[in-house]
Amino acid sequence: MFEPRNRREARLLSQLDLTRLPRHVAIIMDGNGRWAQRRHLPRIAGHRAGVAAAREAIETCARLGLEVLTLYAFSTENWRRPQTEVQFLMRLLQESVRKELPSLRDNNIRLQIIGRIHQLPVAIRHKLAQAVEETAANTGMRLVVALNYSGRAELVDAFAALLRQSSGPGREELRIDEHTIAQHLYTAGLPDPDLLIRTSGEMRLSNFLLWQIAYTELYVTETLWPDFDRCSLLEALLDYQRRERRYGGLSGAALHLSRGGGLRNPVGRETQGGA
Ligand code: FPP
Repeated sequence: MFEPRNRREARLLSQLDLTRLPRHVAIIMDGNGRWAQRRHLPRIAGHRAGVAAAREAIETCARLGLEVLTLYAFSTENWRRPQTEVQFLMRLLQESVRKELPSLRDNNIRLQIIGRIHQLPVAIRHKLAQAVEETAANTGMRLVVALNYSGRAELVDAFAALLRQSSGPGREELRIDEHTIAQHLYTAGLPDPDLLIRTSGEMRLSNFLLWQIAYTELYVTETLWPDFDRCSLLEALLDYQRRERRYGGLSGAALHLSRGGGLRNPVGRETQGGA
């Protein structure tokens, strides 16, 4: 756990039910550019401030005891940005992963990178592989960094792998079902996200974890990513704890009503909650 640094953090922390935390939180970190623009700074200053916000979120999630934190750091679409920004981001992400290694070690965090890693420059690939290797024995939170990632590309890669298997050894046992598809995603073995946070107010999924977020709770905040501090994270977790997750079933109250014949749709079947 962590020591609250001020009264607001202490108050939010005291409201949180530590026995009902999400297992997996995923974050679309958006708004670095706007944060810089509002301060008349170059966009890269926003990305540097974004790294500090990521560090705080990582440490806080690990100390709260979350199982998995996934951060969307660079999408396959981000290559369309000006070359200087792309080069800066690549250097920054690689440098940040290296600089964060002592903190990952101290907090027992295991690093995993997802995305089309093979398309990244070789020097970056090596540095990332080294960092992953150095944290491989850690048993605490999994930090998953999505780099050159897109949900559709992930699904294409999974289906291509399944197609290869369908004509290779073991093809007789191959069964296409949800479990098999999930096992061929980059996130195989990880629980699906319980909570997806998006900063800076945009109501979009931006091609992130499309398969995995089927039943994920969404939380969108106007806060720009560099301003997303520990209190912002605690507020998102508290909001999550106020939700009722139904997975397409009925809520407690609706279930009670339907048993008494209260909830019926026009064709007479019991209404199933749709969300
Ligand atoms: C969005 O801001 C952020 C990114 C493109 C991702 C880069 C993220 C960081 C540098 C944070 C650190 C991450 C790690 C894993 C250490 P934007 O440029 O899209 O903002 P805008 O929409 O306001 O232009």
